[in-house]
Amino acid sequence: MLIQKNVSLKPYNSFGIDVSASHFVELTHEWELEELTADETVPTTRLVLGGGSNILFTKNVAALVIKNNMMGIEVAEENEEHVWLQAKAGVVWHELVLYAIDHNLGGIENLALIPGCVGASPMQNIGAYGMEVKDVIDEVACWHWEEKRMMVLRNEDCQFGYRDSIFKQGLKDKVLITSVVFKLNKLHKVNTSYGAIQQQLATMGVSNEPTIKTVANAVIAIRESKLPDPNKIGNAGSFFKNPTISLELFKAIQLHQPNIPAYPANEGVKVPAGWLIEQCGWKGYRDGDAGVHALQALVLVNYGNATGAEMLHLSEKIIESVKEKFGIELEREVNIW
Ligand code: EPU
Repeated sequence: MLIQKNVSLKPYNSFGIDVSASHFVELTHEWELEELTADETVPTTRLVLGGGSNILFTKNVAALVIKNNMMGIEVAEENEEHVWLQAKAGVVWHELVLYAIDHNLGGIENLALIPGCVGASPMQNIGAYGMEVKDVIDEVACWHWEEKRMMVLRNEDCQFGYRDSIFKQGLKDKVLITSVVFKLNKLHKVNTSYGAIQQQLATMGVSNEPTIKTVANAVIAIRESKLPDPNKIGNAGSFFKNPTISLELFKAIQLHQPNIPAYPANEGVKVPAGWLIEQCGWKGYRDGDAGVHALQALVLVNYGNATGAEMLHLSEKIIESVKEKFGIELEREVNIW
Protein backbone atom coordinates (compact mmCIF):
# COMPACT_ATOMS: atom_id res chain seq x y z
CA MET A 1 0.00 0.00 0.00
CA LEU A 2 1.73 3.12 -1.26
CA ILE A 3 0.54 6.52 -0.05
CA GLN A 4 1.50 9.22 -2.56
CA LYS A 5 1.42 12.98 -2.13
CA ASN A 6 0.29 15.73 -4.53
CA VAL A 7 -1.17 13.44 -7.18
CA SER A 8 -3.08 14.84 -10.16
CA LEU A 9 -6.67 13.56 -10.20
CA LYS A 10 -7.21 14.30 -13.90
CA PRO A 11 -7.04 10.60 -14.90
CA TYR A 12 -9.35 9.65 -12.03
CA ASN A 13 -12.43 11.75 -12.83
CA SER A 14 -14.55 11.42 -15.95
CA PHE A 15 -14.97 15.21 -16.19
CA GLY A 16 -11.19 15.33 -16.72
CA ILE A 17 -10.73 18.20 -14.25
CA ASP A 18 -7.11 18.77 -13.28
CA VAL A 19 -6.87 19.16 -9.51
CA SER A 20 -4.47 17.46 -7.13
CA ALA A 21 -4.93 15.30 -4.07
CA SER A 22 -2.74 16.01 -1.05
CA HIS A 23 -2.70 12.25 -0.33
CA PHE A 24 -3.58 9.38 -2.64
CA VAL A 25 -3.72 5.62 -2.22
CA GLU A 26 -4.96 2.72 -4.33
CA LEU A 27 -6.51 -0.18 -2.43
CA THR A 28 -6.68 -3.68 -3.87
CA HIS A 29 -7.54 -5.80 -0.81
CA GLU A 30 -9.95 -5.47 2.09
CA TRP A 31 -7.25 -6.26 4.63
CA GLU A 32 -5.44 -3.04 3.69
CA LEU A 33 -8.26 -1.04 5.26
CA GLU A 34 -7.24 -1.90 8.81
CA GLU A 35 -3.69 -0.79 8.12
CA LEU A 36 -4.87 2.41 6.44
CA THR A 37 -7.22 3.27 9.32
CA ALA A 38 -4.36 2.82 11.81
CA ASP A 39 -1.99 5.07 9.84
CA GLU A 40 -1.84 8.35 11.76
CA THR A 41 0.21 10.15 9.10
CA VAL A 42 -2.69 10.44 6.62
CA PRO A 43 -5.65 12.86 6.79
CA THR A 44 -8.84 11.52 8.32
CA THR A 45 -10.88 13.44 5.76
CA ARG A 46 -11.30 10.91 2.99
CA LEU A 47 -12.69 10.79 -0.51
CA VAL A 48 -13.35 7.40 -2.05
CA LEU A 49 -13.25 7.22 -5.84
CA GLY A 50 -14.48 4.35 -7.95
CA GLY A 51 -14.68 5.36 -11.58
CA GLY A 52 -14.80 9.06 -10.63
CA SER A 53 -17.78 9.36 -12.93
CA ASN A 54 -20.15 11.25 -10.67
CA ILE A 55 -17.96 13.97 -9.21
CA LEU A 56 -17.01 17.52 -10.14
CA PHE A 57 -13.79 18.81 -8.60
CA THR A 58 -13.78 22.58 -8.06
CA LYS A 59 -10.61 22.77 -5.96
CA ASN A 60 -7.56 20.78 -4.92
CA VAL A 61 -8.41 17.97 -2.54
CA ALA A 62 -6.81 18.37 0.89
CA ALA A 63 -7.76 14.86 1.95
CA LEU A 64 -6.86 11.23 1.52
CA VAL A 65 -8.19 10.18 -1.90
CA ILE A 66 -8.75 6.44 -2.05
CA LYS A 67 -9.00 4.77 -5.42
CA ASN A 68 -10.86 1.54 -4.82
CA ASN A 69 -9.34 -1.15 -7.02
CA MET A 70 -10.71 -4.24 -5.28
CA MET A 71 -11.46 -6.72 -8.10
CA GLY A 72 -13.30 -9.99 -8.67
CA ILE A 73 -16.70 -11.45 -9.47
CA GLU A 74 -17.85 -14.75 -7.96
CA VAL A 75 -20.97 -16.78 -7.43
CA ALA A 76 -21.88 -16.54 -3.74
CA GLU A 77 -24.98 -18.73 -3.90
CA GLU A 78 -27.25 -20.35 -6.43
CA ASN A 79 -30.63 -22.06 -6.61
CA GLU A 80 -32.94 -23.03 -9.45
CA GLU A 81 -34.15 -19.50 -10.08
CA HIS A 82 -31.39 -17.18 -8.92
CA VAL A 83 -27.67 -16.63 -8.77
CA TRP A 84 -26.24 -14.36 -6.09
CA LEU A 85 -23.19 -12.73 -7.66
CA GLN A 86 -20.69 -11.05 -5.43
CA ALA A 87 -18.66 -8.32 -7.13
CA LYS A 88 -15.89 -6.31 -5.54
CA ALA A 89 -16.29 -2.54 -5.49
CA GLY A 90 -13.54 -1.82 -8.05
CA VAL A 91 -15.07 -3.93 -10.84
CA VAL A 92 -16.08 -1.71 -13.75
CA TRP A 93 -19.88 -1.64 -13.80
CA HIS A 94 -20.23 -2.48 -17.48
CA GLU A 95 -17.87 -5.47 -17.06
CA LEU A 96 -20.32 -6.85 -14.51
CA VAL A 97 -23.22 -6.31 -16.93
CA LEU A 98 -21.28 -8.19 -19.65
CA TYR A 99 -20.43 -11.00 -17.20
CA ALA A 100 -24.13 -11.35 -16.26
CA ILE A 101 -25.19 -11.45 -19.91
CA ASP A 102 -22.48 -14.01 -20.80
CA HIS A 103 -23.77 -16.22 -17.99
CA ASN A 104 -27.39 -15.62 -19.04
CA LEU A 105 -28.31 -13.87 -15.80
CA GLY A 106 -31.04 -11.24 -16.02
CA GLY A 107 -31.65 -8.10 -13.99
CA ILE A 108 -29.01 -5.55 -14.95
CA GLU A 109 -29.10 -5.60 -18.77
CA ASN A 110 -30.93 -2.23 -18.93
CA LEU A 111 -28.06 -0.73 -16.95
CA ALA A 112 -25.49 -1.50 -19.67
CA LEU A 113 -22.76 1.06 -20.31
CA ILE A 114 -23.38 3.17 -17.20
CA PRO A 115 -19.94 4.56 -16.39
CA GLY A 116 -18.37 3.89 -13.00
CA CYS A 117 -17.66 0.96 -10.71
CA VAL A 118 -19.68 -1.59 -8.78
CA GLY A 119 -18.96 0.17 -5.46
CA ALA A 120 -20.73 3.31 -6.58
CA SER A 121 -23.82 1.51 -7.87
CA PRO A 122 -25.64 1.30 -4.50
CA MET A 123 -24.37 4.73 -3.44
CA GLN A 124 -26.60 6.60 -5.86
CA ASN A 125 -28.86 3.69 -6.79
CA ILE A 126 -27.94 3.88 -10.45
CA GLY A 127 -30.83 3.57 -12.85
CA ALA A 128 -31.70 3.76 -16.52
CA TYR A 129 -34.32 2.64 -19.01
CA GLY A 130 -36.88 1.41 -16.51
CA MET A 131 -34.54 -0.35 -14.06
CA GLU A 132 -32.83 0.65 -10.83
CA VAL A 133 -30.01 -1.31 -9.23
CA LYS A 134 -31.88 -1.44 -5.90
CA ASP A 135 -34.18 -4.05 -7.46
CA VAL A 136 -31.33 -6.58 -7.66
CA ILE A 137 -29.05 -5.61 -4.76
CA ASP A 138 -29.17 -8.25 -2.03
CA GLU A 139 -26.54 -6.86 0.32
CA VAL A 140 -23.67 -4.37 0.51
CA ALA A 141 -20.46 -4.96 2.47
CA CYS A 142 -18.48 -1.99 3.72
CA TRP A 143 -15.74 -0.90 6.07
CA HIS A 144 -16.79 1.47 8.86
CA TRP A 145 -13.94 3.94 9.44
CA GLU A 146 -14.79 4.92 13.02
CA GLU A 147 -15.87 1.51 14.22
CA LYS A 148 -12.89 -0.06 12.43
CA ARG A 149 -14.86 -3.08 11.27
CA MET A 150 -16.63 -4.58 8.29
CA MET A 151 -20.41 -4.37 8.22
CA VAL A 152 -23.06 -5.80 5.91
CA LEU A 153 -26.26 -3.96 5.01
CA ARG A 154 -29.21 -5.88 3.66
CA ASN A 155 -31.16 -4.28 0.82
CA GLU A 156 -33.87 -3.02 3.20
CA ASP A 157 -31.23 -1.30 5.37
CA CYS A 158 -29.87 0.73 2.45
CA GLN A 159 -32.77 3.27 2.31
CA PHE A 160 -32.76 3.29 -1.47
CA GLY A 161 -34.54 6.13 -3.26
CA TYR A 162 -34.27 7.86 -6.63
CA ARG A 163 -30.48 8.34 -7.06
CA ASP A 164 -30.24 8.07 -3.29
CA SER A 165 -29.29 5.70 -0.45
CA ILE A 166 -28.06 5.63 3.15
CA PHE A 167 -24.51 5.89 1.71
CA LYS A 168 -25.31 9.45 0.56
CA GLN A 169 -27.20 10.23 3.79
CA GLY A 170 -26.62 8.74 7.27
CA LEU A 171 -23.48 6.80 6.31
CA LYS A 172 -21.99 9.54 4.12
CA ASP A 173 -18.19 9.61 4.55
CA LYS A 174 -18.49 6.99 7.30
CA VAL A 175 -17.97 3.83 5.24
CA LEU A 176 -16.12 2.50 2.21
CA ILE A 177 -18.08 -0.01 0.14
CA THR A 178 -15.98 -3.12 -0.50
CA SER A 179 -18.38 -5.43 -2.36
CA VAL A 180 -21.98 -5.87 -3.43
CA VAL A 181 -24.10 -9.01 -3.80
CA PHE A 182 -26.60 -8.93 -6.67
CA LYS A 183 -29.50 -11.36 -6.87
CA LEU A 184 -29.86 -12.10 -10.57
CA ASN A 185 -32.42 -14.20 -12.41
CA LYS A 186 -31.84 -17.41 -14.30
CA LEU A 187 -35.45 -17.37 -15.50
CA HIS A 188 -35.63 -13.85 -16.71
CA LYS A 189 -38.24 -11.58 -18.13
CA VAL A 190 -36.91 -8.56 -19.97
CA ASN A 191 -38.15 -5.04 -19.20
CA THR A 192 -38.79 -3.11 -22.39
CA SER A 193 -41.31 -0.69 -20.91
CA TYR A 194 -39.17 2.39 -21.64
CA GLY A 195 -40.28 4.01 -24.88
CA ALA A 196 -36.76 4.54 -26.21
CA ILE A 197 -36.01 0.79 -25.87
CA GLN A 198 -39.13 -0.14 -27.81
CA GLN A 199 -38.20 2.29 -30.59
CA GLN A 200 -34.64 0.99 -30.70
CA LEU A 201 -35.77 -2.66 -30.81
CA ALA A 202 -38.09 -1.78 -33.71
CA THR A 203 -35.18 -0.09 -35.51
CA MET A 204 -33.11 -3.23 -34.94
CA GLY A 205 -35.95 -5.31 -36.42
CA VAL A 206 -36.58 -7.26 -33.20
CA SER A 207 -40.25 -8.13 -33.01
CA ASN A 208 -40.67 -11.15 -30.72
CA GLU A 209 -39.51 -11.49 -27.10
CA PRO A 210 -35.94 -10.14 -27.06
CA THR A 211 -33.15 -11.77 -25.05
CA ILE A 212 -31.28 -9.92 -22.30
CA LYS A 213 -28.39 -9.55 -24.72
CA THR A 214 -30.61 -7.89 -27.31
CA VAL A 215 -32.01 -5.50 -24.69
CA ALA A 216 -28.48 -4.63 -23.56
CA ASN A 217 -27.50 -3.99 -27.18
CA ALA A 218 -30.52 -1.71 -27.60
CA VAL A 219 -29.54 0.23 -24.45
CA ILE A 220 -25.94 0.49 -25.65
CA ALA A 221 -27.12 1.85 -29.01
CA ILE A 222 -29.38 4.46 -27.32
CA ARG A 223 -26.67 5.56 -24.90
CA GLU A 224 -24.07 5.79 -27.65
CA SER A 225 -26.41 7.89 -29.77
CA LYS A 226 -27.26 10.41 -27.02
CA LEU A 227 -24.66 10.40 -24.29
CA PRO A 228 -21.08 11.56 -24.78
CA ASP A 229 -18.35 8.95 -24.21
CA PRO A 230 -16.38 10.19 -21.16
CA ASN A 231 -13.20 8.81 -22.76
CA LYS A 232 -13.67 11.36 -25.56
CA ILE A 233 -15.50 14.31 -23.96
CA GLY A 234 -15.35 14.93 -20.21
CA ASN A 235 -18.72 14.50 -18.49
CA ALA A 236 -20.41 12.84 -15.53
CA GLY A 237 -23.68 11.68 -17.06
CA SER A 238 -26.80 13.47 -15.88
CA PHE A 239 -25.66 16.57 -14.03
CA PHE A 240 -29.07 17.20 -12.43
CA LYS A 241 -31.81 14.99 -11.02
CA ASN A 242 -35.19 14.90 -12.70
CA PRO A 243 -37.36 17.03 -10.40
CA THR A 244 -40.72 16.03 -8.96
CA ILE A 245 -43.21 18.90 -9.08
CA SER A 246 -46.78 19.39 -7.85
CA LEU A 247 -49.67 18.54 -10.11
CA GLU A 248 -50.80 22.19 -9.93
CA LEU A 249 -47.47 23.48 -11.21
CA PHE A 250 -47.40 20.80 -13.88
CA LYS A 251 -50.86 21.79 -15.14
CA ALA A 252 -49.88 25.47 -15.14
CA ILE A 253 -46.81 24.74 -17.30
CA GLN A 254 -48.81 22.43 -19.55
CA LEU A 255 -51.19 25.28 -20.43
CA HIS A 256 -48.35 27.06 -22.23
CA GLN A 257 -46.25 24.02 -23.14
CA PRO A 258 -48.61 21.18 -23.99
CA ASN A 259 -45.72 18.92 -25.03
CA ILE A 260 -44.02 18.77 -21.62
CA PRO A 261 -43.07 15.11 -20.97
CA ALA A 262 -43.94 13.68 -17.56
CA TYR A 263 -43.78 10.47 -15.55
CA PRO A 264 -45.90 9.47 -12.57
CA ALA A 265 -44.19 9.99 -9.19
CA ASN A 266 -45.11 9.22 -5.60
CA GLU A 267 -46.19 12.75 -4.82
CA GLY A 268 -46.79 14.87 -7.89
CA VAL A 269 -45.23 14.49 -11.33
CA LYS A 270 -41.64 13.85 -12.38
CA VAL A 271 -40.48 15.94 -15.33
CA PRO A 272 -37.23 15.48 -17.29
CA ALA A 273 -34.68 18.13 -16.34
CA GLY A 274 -33.16 17.73 -19.83
CA TRP A 275 -36.39 18.99 -21.38
CA LEU A 276 -36.61 21.98 -19.00
CA ILE A 277 -32.98 22.91 -19.73
CA GLU A 278 -33.51 22.58 -23.48
CA GLN A 279 -36.57 24.87 -23.29
CA CYS A 280 -34.35 27.50 -21.66
CA GLY A 281 -32.11 27.41 -24.73
CA TRP A 282 -29.06 25.72 -23.23
CA LYS A 283 -28.80 22.64 -25.44
CA GLY A 284 -25.51 22.77 -27.35
CA TYR A 285 -24.38 25.92 -25.47
CA ARG A 286 -20.62 26.37 -25.12
CA ASP A 287 -18.55 28.95 -23.28
CA GLY A 288 -14.84 28.21 -23.60
CA ASP A 289 -14.49 24.52 -22.84
CA ALA A 290 -17.57 24.27 -20.61
CA GLY A 291 -20.77 23.30 -22.36
CA VAL A 292 -24.13 21.57 -22.50
CA HIS A 293 -24.22 18.42 -24.63
CA ALA A 294 -25.89 19.04 -27.98
CA LEU A 295 -27.85 15.76 -27.87
CA GLN A 296 -28.87 15.60 -24.19
CA ALA A 297 -29.23 18.85 -22.28
CA LEU A 298 -29.01 17.07 -18.91
CA VAL A 299 -25.33 16.35 -19.51
CA LEU A 300 -22.72 19.07 -18.96
CA VAL A 301 -19.48 18.56 -20.86
CA ASN A 302 -15.86 19.60 -20.57
CA TYR A 303 -14.45 19.94 -24.09
CA GLY A 304 -10.88 19.94 -22.77
CA ASN A 305 -9.56 22.36 -20.23
CA ALA A 306 -12.59 23.74 -18.41
CA THR A 307 -12.05 24.17 -14.69
CA GLY A 308 -14.40 22.76 -12.10
CA ALA A 309 -15.34 26.33 -11.13
CA GLU A 310 -16.36 27.05 -14.75
CA MET A 311 -18.49 23.91 -14.88
CA LEU A 312 -20.08 24.79 -11.55
CA HIS A 313 -20.77 28.35 -12.71
CA LEU A 314 -22.48 27.02 -15.83
CA SER A 315 -24.64 24.74 -13.69
CA GLU A 316 -25.61 27.73 -11.50
CA LYS A 317 -26.69 29.74 -14.54
CA ILE A 318 -28.79 26.79 -15.73
CA ILE A 319 -30.43 26.38 -12.30
CA GLU A 320 -31.25 30.11 -12.26
CA SER A 321 -32.78 30.17 -15.72
CA VAL A 322 -34.91 27.05 -15.14
CA LYS A 323 -36.10 28.58 -11.86
CA GLU A 324 -36.98 31.81 -13.61
CA LYS A 325 -38.81 30.24 -16.54
CA PHE A 326 -40.60 27.37 -14.78
CA GLY A 327 -40.40 28.05 -11.03
CA ILE A 328 -38.60 24.72 -10.60
CA GLU A 329 -35.40 24.41 -8.59
CA LEU A 330 -33.09 21.82 -10.15
CA GLU A 331 -30.94 19.74 -7.81
CA ARG A 332 -27.50 18.55 -8.84
CA GLU A 333 -27.01 14.82 -9.16
CA VAL A 334 -23.23 15.01 -9.44
CA ASN A 335 -21.22 15.36 -6.22
CA ILE A 336 -19.31 18.63 -5.91
CA TRP A 337 -15.93 18.76 -4.14
N1 EPU B 1 -35.41 15.49 -23.26
C1 EPU B 1 -35.46 16.66 -23.97
N2 EPU B 1 -34.30 17.34 -24.20
C2 EPU B 1 -33.10 16.90 -23.75
C3 EPU B 1 -33.04 15.70 -23.01
C4 EPU B 1 -34.21 15.00 -22.77
O1 EPU B 1 -36.52 17.10 -24.39
O2 EPU B 1 -32.11 17.57 -24.02
C5 EPU B 1 -36.64 14.71 -23.06
C6 EPU B 1 -36.65 13.45 -23.94
O3 EPU B 1 -37.14 13.71 -25.21
C7 EPU B 1 -37.55 12.53 -23.18
C8 EPU B 1 -37.26 12.89 -21.74
O4 EPU B 1 -36.70 14.20 -21.75
O5 EPU B 1 -38.89 12.80 -23.43
C9 EPU B 1 -36.36 11.90 -21.03
O6 EPU B 1 -35.09 11.85 -21.67
P1 EPU B 1 -34.12 10.56 -21.54
O7 EPU B 1 -34.85 9.34 -21.92
O8 EPU B 1 -32.87 10.86 -22.27
O9 EPU B 1 -33.85 10.42 -19.99
P2 EPU B 1 -33.56 11.48 -18.84
O10 EPU B 1 -34.78 11.57 -17.97
O11 EPU B 1 -33.04 12.75 -19.40
C10 EPU B 1 -32.76 9.69 -17.12
C11 EPU B 1 -31.56 9.43 -16.25
C12 EPU B 1 -30.39 8.91 -17.08
C13 EPU B 1 -30.84 7.63 -17.78
C14 EPU B 1 -32.06 7.95 -18.65
C15 EPU B 1 -32.64 6.72 -19.30
C16 EPU B 1 -31.70 10.96 -14.38
C17 EPU B 1 -31.12 12.16 -13.71
N3 EPU B 1 -31.17 10.62 -15.55
O12 EPU B 1 -32.40 10.75 -18.01
O13 EPU B 1 -29.35 8.57 -16.18
O14 EPU B 1 -29.80 7.10 -18.59
O15 EPU B 1 -33.11 8.52 -17.81
O16 EPU B 1 -33.32 5.95 -18.36
O17 EPU B 1 -32.61 10.35 -13.82
C18 EPU B 1 -27.40 9.42 -15.12
O18 EPU B 1 -28.00 9.32 -14.06
O19 EPU B 1 -26.21 9.85 -15.16
C19 EPU B 1 -28.08 9.08 -16.36
C20 EPU B 1 -27.50 9.24 -17.55
